[in-house]
Amino acid sequence: MPALEPRKILVTSALPYANGPLHLGHLLEQVQTDIWVRFQKSRGHDCLYVCADDAHGTAIMLTAEKRGITPEQQIDSIRREHMRDSAGFLIGFDNFHTTHSEENRYWCETIYDCLQANGHITSRSITQAFDPQKKLFLADRFIKGSCPRCKTPDQYGDNCEACGATYSPTDLIDPVSALSGATPIEKESTHFFFKLPEFKALLTSWLESDTLQAQVANKLREWLDAGLQEWDISRDAPYFGFEIPGEPGKYFYVWLDAPIGYIASFQNYCDQSGRDFDEYWRQDSVAELYHFIGKDIINFHGLFWPAMLDSAGLRAPTAICAHGFLTVNGTKMSKSRGTFINASTYLEHLDAEYLRYYFAAKLSASIDDIDLNLEDFVQRVNTDVVGKVVNIASRCAGFLRKGYDNTLSTDCAEPALWDEFAARGDTIAALYEQREFNKAIREVISLADRANQYIDEKKPWALAKAEGTEREVHDTCSVGINLFRVLMTYLKPVLPAMSEKAETFLNCSLDWTSLKGPLLEHKLAKFKPLMTRIEMPQVEAMVEASKSSNTPTKAPASAQAEKGIEGDTIKFEDFAKVDLRVAKIVSAEHVEGADKLLCLMLDLGDEQDHRQVFSGIKGAYQPEDLVGKLTVVVANLAPRKMRFGLSEGMVLAAGPGGKDIFLLEPHDGALPGMQVK
Ligand code: MSP
Ligand code: ZN
Repeated sequence: MPALEPRKILVTSALPYANGPLHLGHLLEQVQTDIWVRFQKSRGHDCLYVCADDAHGTAIMLTAEKRGITPEQQIDSIRREHMRDSAGFLIGFDNFHTTHSEENRYWCETIYDCLQANGHITSRSITQAFDPQKKLFLADRFIKGSCPRCKTPDQYGDNCEACGATYSPTDLIDPVSALSGATPIEKESTHFFFKLPEFKALLTSWLESDTLQAQVANKLREWLDAGLQEWDISRDAPYFGFEIPGEPGKYFYVWLDAPIGYIASFQNYCDQSGRDFDEYWRQDSVAELYHFIGKDIINFHGLFWPAMLDSAGLRAPTAICAHGFLTVNGTKMSKSRGTFINASTYLEHLDAEYLRYYFAAKLSASIDDIDLNLEDFVQRVNTDVVGKVVNIASRCAGFLRKGYDNTLSTDCAEPALWDEFAARGDTIAALYEQREFNKAIREVISLADRANQYIDEKKPWALAKAEGTEREVHDTCSVGINLFRVLMTYLKPVLPAMSEKAETFLNCSLDWTSLKGPLLEHKLAKFKPLMTRIEMPQVEAMVEASKSSNTPTKAPASAQAEKGIEGDTIKFEDFAKVDLRVAKIVSAEHVEGADKLLCLMLDLGDEQDHRQVFSGIKGAYQPEDLVGKLTVVVANLAPRKMRFGLSEGMVLAAGPGGKDIFLLEPHDGALPGMQVK
């Protein structure tokens, strides 16, 4: 392996909200980050991983109130739980801090001073919904009402989980505060804004940086092209956060102080370890800086954050490493199906490394969603790790212990094979570096297949029964163990605990940088099982337990969607009231300013009289792919005036949303206007 200059690398993953337990979605991110960090460390680089809890905001304040504790007590207990759960998944943070800290207050104020001194802050009065009973301003998601389109009650914010309509909270029928039930009033107040549009040039060149994922750069480009808006960075009391200096009753919005939490956590780490803070964060820093995040928060990290850093005279991130969302069994995690799985529930039933391996086997550098299919999970881990990798060692260990004093042979009988395994290291390292973990794992498993094939051909179990073959049995099993050592070295970033057990057995440290030749005449320790198979009942027990564990705090959407499935029965007359018709999509177009909607023109049998329908299916369809297709429409829905025009009906579709929406399409022969009954 070529000698490498050690790199200085600082890595973060997104700061989880101190508002509820970690779930497997959070762990997808932390595992991805941790594997990358462990990989860098294993290659001899100086790599640090810091994180923290995101402890501010209205939601946390309200949760504490509901539980009858102070916000400080709330965030302290959650932080302890988060640290325990991450440790359970072997996440090796170098530091885990909190945004509710003196370091963070200092950096927020310092950075804000810079933004202001540079003329990047402005203020003006805005009108917002206000809860007259709780005496606080209401964000969209704290306003509930009936959907203006399909009338489903109890819909949050600005989109309907039942029909996909998008609207502004003021369009809701009988809007109420989700906090008190009071009818919101409109109220004015002064807010502070960060002048993001002034950073257009900076952001344009940043999105051309070749370290960004193409999908991320595309998203950034879309936002830039749509025009940057000033960013509202203040919230009014009561708020749990930092008060803006010199502005009594005004607080920094949680999303202003959250990314600064990365800096604060690192500052806290420096204060303990004596590291040089400036070396990492000043504009002339030679260190690399990576933020691992989910695709839902790309705007905060790809637009606001680099702009703020620039204004404050701090360095830009080297790259944003975004990942997709975790789904379980093909759909959004769901409490009623038992697939909204908390980290702690998982750990009560299963070994963390099963999931670390499975995630690694699926993760790539793209932002596509990642599915945890529970059957596939059991199979994959059992087949690959237990059946292939561990199997190599367990097939060989017994012979060596019984006949050869647990010591490897003096020569390597298959130098070419060993070289082939060692030579693959650079390819595998490059794949880890690019976060193509799935490909790295595929390489490792193909080597494991190769090792097993070698043992199958040699058949030490048959040789051991023959005469005069002692040497060959010894050689074969020694080769097997040496190949196993190489594979475990490659897997160490993914399976740190199993690697440690393997190190004990192999009686040597698994160190990528010292993988220079096979172990010869080397004494092994007693072989102990390195990983046991997953049994389906363990998984089933975890799913059962997830149905009754703590309610997640951030899932009103899925909870609402599930309500639709379990509703009461209706009479036939009720169904007959709905006029369903076959419709032909004559045209489909994007709607300016709407990020979920397409505008469809429908032919319901009368070519002279087309219907216009807005449908929240943009995430799933290219308009041109819809033209000419048939679908089903609710033809007698009262027309609704939307911000973009009149919507005269509703097309039928299934699926959880986003890119998973599936429009209904009749079989061949149906004609526009036919009634569906
Ligand atoms: N507090 C903010 C992040 C501030 S970073 C300066 C936040 N917190 S979160 O708890 O909602 O999410 C933390 C991270 O977990 C985010 O990167 C988010 O994308 C990720 N995930 C949350 N649910 C997820 C899945 N279901 N799947 C994959 N990642 C998910 O956002
Ligand atoms: Zn609706």
